[in-house]
Order: sequence, then structure tokens, then C-alpha cells
Amino acid sequence: MGKTHPLKPFYDVIDTGNPKEKWERLPEFPRIIELEITNHCNFQCVMCKTGNGQAKRDRGYMSEEIYQKLIDELAGMESQTAIKFVGQGEPTLHPAFLTYVMKAKEKGIVCHLTNNGSMMNDQFMEELIDTGIDSVKFSFQGVSRDGYKLLRIRDDFEELLGKIEKLYKLRGERQYPFITIGTSVLTETEAEIAAFRKRCESICDKTEIGITTLEYIDLELISDTGRRDEMKVIKQEQKECLRRYNCCHQIFDVLTLHWNGNICACCADNDEVMVLGNIKEMTLKECWDCEKEKSWRRILAERRYEALPLCKDCYDIYGWTYSENK
Ligand SMILES: C[S@@+](CC[C@H](N)C(=O)[O-])C[C@H]1O[C@@H](n2cnc3c(N)ncnc32)[C@H](O)[C@@H]1O
Ligand code: SF4
Ligand code: SF4
Repeated sequence: MGKTHPLKPFYDVIDTGNPKEKWERLPEFPRIIELEITNHCNFQCVMCKTGNGQAKRDRGYMSEEIYQKLIDELAGMESQTAIKFVGQGEPTLHPAFLTYVMKAKEKGIVCHLTNNGSMMNDQFMEELIDTGIDSVKFSFQGVSRDGYKLLRIRDDFEELLGKIEKLYKLRGERQYPFITIGTSVLTETEAEIAAFRKRCESICDKTEIGITTLEYIDLELISDTGRRDEMKVIKQEQKECLRRYNCCHQIFDVLTLHWNGNICACCADNDEVMVLGNIKEMTLKECWDCEKEKSWRRILAERRYEALPLCKDCYDIYGWTYSENK
């Protein structure tokens, strides 16, 4: 029998209900902390604001002091809150990444990592398993060497699959980490997607296929003119696609902590326009209960998305769920 994703109990709640229903069953404390321990990255993915240089926020690494505050607060709460090591950079580049995971696991906190696979050498993989991390997701774009190279600007599709296979074998019969391969597609056919799924079946516990959004891509960076023209059409289609507001997977269930200690209401807040406070001066609980957060929740429960600068363009054009999108 297949394994169950360790964050399933969290995702099941977050992915349920409309904004008003979510507001009515608001938890005492966030169910998940989206944690950005760094916004540095060693890749230049063209569809990502970090990779293509559109992200203008200062870059840095989370200090031990800030991280410890997070762990102390989570450890003192009665409810279970999971940590997702993700954010707008590559978490595994933080020199203390493994130590940070270990500290969270010592306190019994459920931990997930989304990563680009670049740090996964033999030693790193063994140490990662030893931390007791619950879930590890590897990111791809496309379902083939070409599709991956087009957006990730790297020719290591096969190498990455090889690393995942190695981690899967190293993990063996152990319960954790649960291993996910996540990718997003553009023009790939059903047959190509099915072939990728088949390939992944024997080297991970779950394969997630989403849609690549072209909102932030500078198409001039695509050297293949044929593909560029094709992507121009898709980008336009994505803009004009019938838009439906997102059910908000953030403000009712999640808090985001940036490397600099800023606590944000939404994980999509790369430019920090919905900051609630800084963990050096406020607790997460104070931010969760503060008037600013309450007023934003009311606005979103009443579906007045256009009242908030970040939310007015937050469309769920593909029916994404929280679990698949992170
Ligand atoms: C911003 S990255 C950060 C974590 C890590 N650097 C990585 O690539 O896994 C988080 C996730 O966002 C996805 N992503 C970034 N830009 C995207 C886009 N335009 N469309 C779809 N997925 C995107 C990545 O593939 C990755 O799975
Ligand atoms: S998607 Fe991840 S790996 Fe690619 S540039 Fe963005 S943060 Fe880096
Ligand atoms: S942008 Fe606004 S509506 Fe969209 S997920 Fe974030 S907080 Fe919710």
C-alpha cells in the first residue's frame, strides 16, 4: 500500500471550504508556517521572479536568533503547526538548513522541504534522512529534458531524476521522508505527461503536475524563436482566461516568515506589501490575532479581493489546490 503524505491532515482542511467558511472555522494559530530561510538561489529559472531577477527584495539568510524564536513559539503551542521550508529562494543553500530541520524535528514539528535538487549529493541525502524530515519535494518544469531546459535553463533533467532515485532507495522501507516529484506543464500532451508519471512511479511516492504560469516570464530570454512565439500565445491566453478568484489558501490558515524576520499574511508576498510585523518584535500569535490581519480576513471572507493590492490579481484560473501548488 502507498504511503500517506505526512501533511495530508493539514492540506485536507486548508483545501476545504469557501473563504467565508474558512473564516468561520479559523484556527487559534496558523496550521502551517511557510518558511523562507533564504531568498538566494543558484538557478535562473525564467518563469520565477527570483530566477529572472524581477524580485527586488534584499537577499539574505535567516539568523539562528530568528529561527530559534520560531521554534520556541511553535513548541509552546498546544496545536500542531507544520513548517514548510520553501519561500522565494532555495532553502537547501542555507548553511544551517540541516541543523534547522533537526531543531524542529527535536520538538516534534512536522517538516516539509521544496527544493531544486542541486544540493543533493550522497552525504547531504544521508544527513537529510537523519534529520527525520517528513516530506521532500523536488521541483521540475516540463516532463522532458527539453521542457525542463527551456524554463530551468539547465540540462540536468536526467541527473535530477537519478538523484531522486538514489534518495528513494536510501530511504528504503523507512516511513519518511515522503518523496514527491512536482512539475508544471505548458503544451505537453497527455501522452507525454503519462510517460513522465510512469517514469516517476518507481522513484517517488507521489507525482504532482501543475500548470506553468507565464505571468513573470520575459519571453525575450527564450532563444528558440518557435517556442517563444508559442509561449507568447499561451501567455496571452493565460491573461484572458476566464478568471475566478482564488479561495485564498493563506490568510485563514497560514503565516509566512521571511528570512529577515518579517511575518507576512501571504506566501505570494514577495514584495512585502502585507507585512504584519517582525518576529524580533512580535510573536506569530500576536500577528495572527492582530487587527490588520483580522481586517484583511474580513475583506477576503466578503470576497472584496480588489480592496487589497496583492489579492486583486490573485486568480485561480487552473483550479489549483494548496497542496499541489506548494
Ligand atoms: C519559488 S520555488 C522555491 C523552492 C525551490 N527553489 C524550488 O525550485 O523548488 C517554489 C516552487 O514554485 C514553482 N514555480 C516557480 N515559478 C513558477 C511558475 N511560474 N509556474 C509554476 N510553478 C512555478 C517551482 O517549480 C517550485 O516548485
Ligand atoms: S523556481 Fe526555485 S530554483 Fe528556480 S529560480 Fe525560483 S527559487 Fe530558484
Ligand atoms: S494574494 Fe490574497 S487572496 Fe491570494 S492567497 Fe494571498 S492573501 Fe489570499
